[in-house]
Amino acid sequence: MNIRQLLVERALVAMASAGLPEGSNPAVTQSTRAQFGDYQINGAMGAAKKLKTNPRELAQKIIDSLELTDVAAKIEIAGPGFINIHLKPEFLAEKLVAANSDKKLGVSAHQNVQKVVVDYSSPNLAKEMHVGHLRSTIIGDAVVRALEFRGDNVIRQNHMGDWGTQFGMLIAHLEDLLNQGIDLESVALADLESFYRDSKKRFDDEEGFADRAREYVVKLQSGDAHCNKLWKLFIDTSVKHSTEVYQKLNVTLKPENIMAESAYNNELANVITLLKDKNIAQESQGAQVVFLDELANKDGEPSVFIVQKSGGGFLYATTDLAACDYRSNKLDADRILIFVDARQSLHFNQVELVARKADLLREETSYEFCPFGTMMGNDGKPFKTRTGGTVKLADLLEEAISRASTKLAERESDMSDDERSEVARKVGIGAVKYADLSKNRTSDYIFNWDSMLSFEGATAPYLQYAYTRVRSIFRKANIDISTFSADILINEPQEKTLALKLLQLEEVLDQMVNDATPHVLCAYLYELASLYMTFYEACPVLKEGVDVDVKNSRLILCNLVANTLAKGLDLLGIEVMEQM
Ligand code: ARG
Repeated sequence: MNIRQLLVERALVAMASAGLPEGSNPAVTQSTRAQFGDYQINGAMGAAKKLKTNPRELAQKIIDSLELTDVAAKIEIAGPGFINIHLKPEFLAEKLVAANSDKKLGVSAHQNVQKVVVDYSSPNLAKEMHVGHLRSTIIGDAVVRALEFRGDNVIRQNHMGDWGTQFGMLIAHLEDLLNQGIDLESVALADLESFYRDSKKRFDDEEGFADRAREYVVKLQSGDAHCNKLWKLFIDTSVKHSTEVYQKLNVTLKPENIMAESAYNNELANVITLLKDKNIAQESQGAQVVFLDELANKDGEPSVFIVQKSGGGFLYATTDLAACDYRSNKLDADRILIFVDARQSLHFNQVELVARKADLLREETSYEFCPFGTMMGNDGKPFKTRTGGTVKLADLLEEAISRASTKLAERESDMSDDERSEVARKVGIGAVKYADLSKNRTSDYIFNWDSMLSFEGATAPYLQYAYTRVRSIFRKANIDISTFSADILINEPQEKTLALKLLQLEEVLDQMVNDATPHVLCAYLYELASLYMTFYEACPVLKEGVDVDVKNSRLILCNLVANTLAKGLDLLGIEVMEQM
C-alpha cells in the first residue's frame, strides 16, 4: 500500500471516531512545501463547512483520534484547518528496504484488477506512418505499460484503417502494376507514399480509373476473392512497414494486436438493424442518421451522426459502434481507452452517446476518449517537411538517431563504434519520446530538436545520463549492487527528501493510469533525478571518512534511484545504458 492510501485509511477511521458523517472525504495530498510536512489531510475544512462548525476545532478532533504513531514524527494544524504530517525517517527507511528487495520496487498490484482495452496507434494503412501517428503510438504504449505494471489485464487494439474507400483505387493500381510484371516488395510497394500518390493521380486524371476504383471498393467489401487477394497483398506490406516502425520506436505493439476496421465488416449491417429497431436511427435523405439533442448547437439544432450512407455504404462511425459492442459486450472490458487526436472529439462523443443508447456499450464499461494535441514545428504550425509535405515517421526517427550520434560524438568516450551507435539509437529515440510524453497530453507542443537532445533540463538524455552516473558509483565501489543489502539510515534532510520521492512511484503511476497521463511520470523522474543530484552533493557516498553504515545505506539509496529511473523510463518505452 502506498503512503497516501495508508493515510487515507487512517484518516477515515479517525474521522469516523470524531463523529464525522460517513462519506466525508479526508482529502489527503502530498505536501507541496517542506514546511507543510510530507502529506496533508485537508478534509477537516470541507467537513466543517457541511457541519457548520469551526474547521480548526474539527481538525483537532480528527488528530485526537488519528492513530499514526508508527508513521508520523509530528502532526500539526496549520492555517484554517490543514493537518500537516511529518513522516518518521524510520518508517520511510523500512519501506525502502522492502522496496529494494522487490522486483516491482514496492509498487503493489491494483486492488481491483481491471480489463482494459487500449485503442492506440491505429494508423490508416493507405499511407505510410507519418508524424501524426507518433503521439497516439507512444502515449498509448506508455499507458499500456504502466497499466500492466500495476497488474491490470490489458488488451492492445491497433484499430488500423484498412477498409476505407481509398482501397479501391489502391488495389486497382496494384492490379495494373502486377499485370505489368512489376515486383511488389522491391518496386511497387517499396514506397507506400508514392504508391498512394500515383494511385490518387490516376484516380483524379485517368478516364475510367475512378469508376473501376469505386467498383473495386464495393467488390472488396462484399467479399470478392480477387479484390480481397489484392487488398491482402497491399495490407501485408503496409503492416510490415508499421511493424518496423514500432520496433524502431521500442513500442510493444505486435501484429497480433491488430484489430483493424475490416475485422468489423460483418457486424456493420447488424449495427444498423439494431439502431433502426430501437428507433435510434432514422432515415434522412436516404441515409441512416442519429440526431443527438445532447450535443445540440446553440440554436438548439441536434448534432447529426450518420451511420449509413445513402448508397448503403458504412462509415468510420459504423465501425466504431461495432467496436464498442465487441469491446464492451464480447470482451467484457471495464475500461476502453482510445488515444486519438483531439480533432476527433466530437466523433467519439457521438459514438459513446449512440452506443450507450443502443446498449452496444454497457453501463459498467467506462469509455475514455483520451485526446491529444498537435505536434507543431518551430513556426507554430503543424509539423511539416521544409517543403510543406508530411514527415514520414521512419525518417523522423532516423534523423533523431543521427542527431543524437552527432551530439554524443562531442563527448569523450572509450566505447566501441557498435556501442556508440547503440547508445545513439537509445538517446535519439528516447529524446523524441520524452519530449512528447512530458507535455500535458491535451496541449499542442512545439517540436524542437535542440531542446529534446540537450543534456540539461527535463530530457531523456539528462535522465539517461543521471542513470549512468548513479551506476558508475557501484563500479567505483567495486560491489555487486544487485545482491548488496544494508539498513537504511535517514539523517540528512536530502536523504529524507530523496527517500520520500522514491516511495511515491506508486502514487504517480496510479495517477498516470487513472488519467492516462504519462507526463506525470516524466515530471516525477525528472524531480527524482534532480533530488538525487542534490543528495549526491550533500551526502558523500564513497568519500573517505564516511561511516561504513552510512555509506552502505547511501549505496542502497543510490540503487533505488537507479532502479526507479530505469523502471520509470522503461514504462515510458525509453531505454537506459550503462555508459554514454
Ligand atoms: N485510423 C484513425 C485515424 O488515423 C484513428 C482510429 C482511432 N480509433 C478508432 N477506434 N476510431 O484517424
